[in-house]
Amino acid sequence: MLIKSAEFVMSNSDVAKCPKDRLPEYAFIGRSNVGKSSLINMLTNRKSLAKTSGRPGKTQLINHFLINKNWYLVDLPGYGYARVSKSTKKVFQKFITAYFAKREQLISAFVLVDIRHTPQPIDLEFMQWLGENGIPFSIIFTKADKLKPKAIENHINAYKDILMETWEDMPNYFITSSSKEIGKEELLNYIDNTNSNLKLD
Ligand code: GTP
Ligand code: MG
Repeated sequence: MLIKSAEFVMSNSDVAKCPKDRLPEYAFIGRSNVGKSSLINMLTNRKSLAKTSGRPGKTQLINHFLINKNWYLVDLPGYGYARVSKSTKKVFQKFITAYFAKREQLISAFVLVDIRHTPQPIDLEFMQWLGENGIPFSIIFTKADKLKPKAIENHINAYKDILMETWEDMPNYFITSSSKEIGKEELLNYIDNTNSNLKLD
């Protein structure tokens, strides 16, 4: 899919105030610093459409980006960020949960996990929660530039082993690097195909 336009539309903390049109949307979720905002910039060929930072906790709101004037990418705050206060964390959790539970336009979530780490309970629990709530998702492994191919394979296999304990099939997954533009075509084609199938329904 060719990205012809990518525009920031709005930020807010209330799902009720998100765009009212019925365009399909895809949301990026995962731990702070995993690379959600960087991936949005990579996919849209823009350096700073979504704000990124080396310090976790950069994205603090629900951010809608309109792509090719017919679908949205949604950048969300990270979960599991230790440095914000407990009360701030609760507010985050509340509106993130409300977003996933109530947003009818959400076609699929992308759960981002850093490929360098062993499977983390917080990510597995979040996937479980999505499954229990009937919210489709794919996994996006990020920062693949940081590992050699063999290590990438080993880390994916560790994920497969643990996910197959609770899931019937391995969820759909992508291997990406924002700095090396790995996985861009696969991800954009996946979204393009999903959007085309929606029109057939
Ligand atoms: P929050 O908004 O805080 O939840 O973080 P985020 O998930 O949006 O992460 P962000 O995109 O801001 O990136 C965090 C850090 O990781 C930045 O320093 C990025 O440059 C770096 N980073 C993101 N993607 C990649 C990647 O593919 N490879 C490498 N090497 N670094 C990356
Ligand atoms: Mg971010």
